[in-house]
Amino acid sequence: MPIRPTLAKDLAHLPAIERSAAQTFRQVPGLAWLADSEVMEASEHQRLLDAGTSWVAVDDQDCLVGFLCAEVVGTALHVHELSVGQAAQGQGLGRQLLEQALAQARLQRLHSVTLTTFADVPWNRPFYERLGFCVLPLAELDARLSAILAAERAHGLEGRCAMALVLS
Ligand SMILES: CC(C)(COP(=O)(O)OP(=O)(O)OC[C@H]1O[C@@H](n2cnc3c(N)ncnc32)[C@H](O)[C@@H]1OP(=O)(O)O)[C@@H](O)C(=O)NCCC(=O)NCCS
Repeated sequence: MPIRPTLAKDLAHLPAIERSAAQTFRQVPGLAWLADSEVMEASEHQRLLDAGTSWVAVDDQDCLVGFLCAEVVGTALHVHELSVGQAAQGQGLGRQLLEQALAQARLQRLHSVTLTTFADVPWNRPFYERLGFCVLPLAELDARLSAILAAERAHGLEGRCAMALVLS
C-alpha cells in the first residue's frame, strides 16, 4: 500500500503538494482564490508528525504525491488537511489516506473521526459521505467544531460543514 507515516525528510515537500492539490478549486466558481491561498505552517506539520497522526501517499520511487494530517482531540481524530497532488488525483489515494486515518482511530479506540469541508464541492462532502461520514447539523455541533467553522468563516471560507464518522 503506498501509504506510510510522514517522516521528517518529507516535511519540506508537503507545501508543494497542498498547493498542487488546491489547483482543483480553480474549477469552482467563487473558490478559485483557494488555489493561491496560504498552506499549512511547517511547524504545524511537525507537530502532527510528532503526534503520529500524519501520513503520506508515495509513488513507486517513494516520491510524495499526497498527505493527510490529523490530531487526536478528546475522543475524536480530527482531520486537519487531506491533499493529493493534481497529477495523482483520481487514483484512489485520497480514499486510502482517509482509510489509514480511520484505521488509526479504530486502533486507538477513538469514538469518531471529524473534519470540516465544503458542502457543495463534489470532491469534498460527497467524497466523505461515500466513506461513511455524515454532516453534523449546526444545532448539534460541539464547541470545538463550532469554533473551527467560525474561524474558517472569519478567513473567508463560506459553505463549510462539519462531518463525523462515528466508530463505536
Ligand atoms: C479530495 C482529494 C484529496 C481526493 O483525492 P483523490 O486521490 O483524487 O481521491 P480518490 O481517487 O481516492 O477518489 C475518491 C472519490 O472522490 C471522487 N473524486 C476525486 N476527484 C474528484 C473530482 N475532481 N470531482 C468529482 N469527484 C472526484 C472520486 O471519483 C472517488 O469517488 P468514489 O469514492 O465514488 O470512488 C483531492 O481531490 C484533493 O486533494 N483535492 C484538493 C484538496 C481538497 O479538497 N482536500 C479536501 C479538503 S476537506
